[in-house]
Amino acid sequence: MAATDLERFSNAEPEPRSLSLGGHVGFDSLPDQLVSKSVTQGFSFNILCVGETGIGKSTLMNTLFNTTFETEEASHHEECVRLRPQTYDLQESNVHLKLTIVDAVGFGDQINKDESYRPIVDYIDAQFENYLQEELKIRRSLFDYQDTRVHVCLYFITPTGHSLKSLDLVTMKKLDSKVNIIPIIAKADTISKSELHKFKIKIMGELVSNGVQIYQFPTDDEAVAEINAVMNAHLPFAVVGSTEEVKVGNKLVRARQYPWGVVQVENENHCDFVKLREMLIRVNMEDLREQTHSRHYELYRRCKLEEMGFQDGDGDSQPFSLQETYEAKRKEFLSELQRKEEEMRQMFVNKVKETELELKEKERELHEKFEHLKRVHQEEKRKVEEKRRELEEETSAFNRRRAAVEALQSQALHATSQQPLRKDKDKKKASGWSSIYSVTIP
Ligand code: GTP
Ligand code: MG
Repeated sequence: MAATDLERFSNAEPEPRSLSLGGHVGFDSLPDQLVSKSVTQGFSFNILCVGETGIGKSTLMNTLFNTTFETEEASHHEECVRLRPQTYDLQESNVHLKLTIVDAVGFGDQINKDESYRPIVDYIDAQFENYLQEELKIRRSLFDYQDTRVHVCLYFITPTGHSLKSLDLVTMKKLDSKVNIIPIIAKADTISKSELHKFKIKIMGELVSNGVQIYQFPTDDEAVAEINAVMNAHLPFAVVGSTEEVKVGNKLVRARQYPWGVVQVENENHCDFVKLREMLIRVNMEDLREQTHSRHYELYRRCKLEEMGFQDGDGDSQPFSLQETYEAKRKEFLSELQRKEEEMRQMFVNKVKETELELKEKERELHEKFEHLKRVHQEEKRKVEEKRRELEEETSAFNRRRAAVEALQSQALHATSQQPLRKDKDKKKASGWSSIYSVTIP
């Protein structure tokens, strides 16, 4: 096919013509085929519970799904917020639901809460990233992929009756572009009816003024538009959770019993539990799944791909080319690598030069030290030589004196041995004089 034909072919936008069928063909069974396929495949739904420790998260989950999930109580001593996902296989009629409940353990327990939202944001992003990586694989298997992306975040508000805490506002603001947030007032049985009304208005006002986008039940599908619109006006839902059964009249109902009365979980005059269950599970579960994919995941994917350098072309004239983008990115990466390599080489050369200079300086210092020591040594040697010479002179002088003394002594000894023989002669000869020897030692 010639290039011009190709262009004409790809730019052509044929108007579909309406035709009537002569009889039953059978593609009206497509919705049934879809239902049957989905039922066989099963569904997955992932709920993130964010709220202070002990606010009633686990109780509400048990109440919502009318079962008992095995969850441990969290301690108040967690160093930071930790995400704990747990997956369960549930079945109702012939529909299988893989339900994952993710608890933000330790939320609101730290003294410094500045970073409390971060582990939650990171967890949500990590699930998007896993999905994106699967999508980008050459051999991908999205059909049986275990989707862990968070479909809804139930944000548990403490029933203070005052206003939202800054931790609530900051966390919801950080999450609102990543997940469908449904705010709920927990333990609503602890707040009076009139206070609850004011509290709801205040919360909604604060969310709007801080630009926090919460999930709005969709009103574009006629079948549910009316109920969803009504329910949107009831947000945030004020809920009570309990798995305890209490006899009211002749019926056993789930309730919380107090000395002054019974709060029935499923009584719409007592709380909004039924509204929450209706909206979350019975009417909008599929919309929550779809919004997660088409809005939140799409945003993540777009930002991530743009970060990686992929861009859509400018309209029809410049269509997006994966090949070109890849080549451009590769070139950019290679030149960056070269630049880094050159930088490192230069750094290495500089380092070697510096070390060489340092070594030379050290060598010079050592040489100087050596010369100094040599001089000191020569001086010492000269002094020692002088001392030795003096000592030798003293020794020879001493020897000479000793020889003289010895000579005198031997003379004296000789003289003494001659004395008795001459005694008589001398007595006779020199009577009257005495002899005195005096020895002078030179
Ligand atoms: P951690 O997982 O430890 O953070 O706690 P949690 O948020 O899961 O709270 P949990 O469901 O364990 O409930 C804590 C306490 O609150 C229990 O004693 C519940 O009985 C009580 N509780 C739960 N829901 C409600 C409620 O709606 N109203 C009142 N008054 N108490 C509730
Ligand atoms: Mg719990």
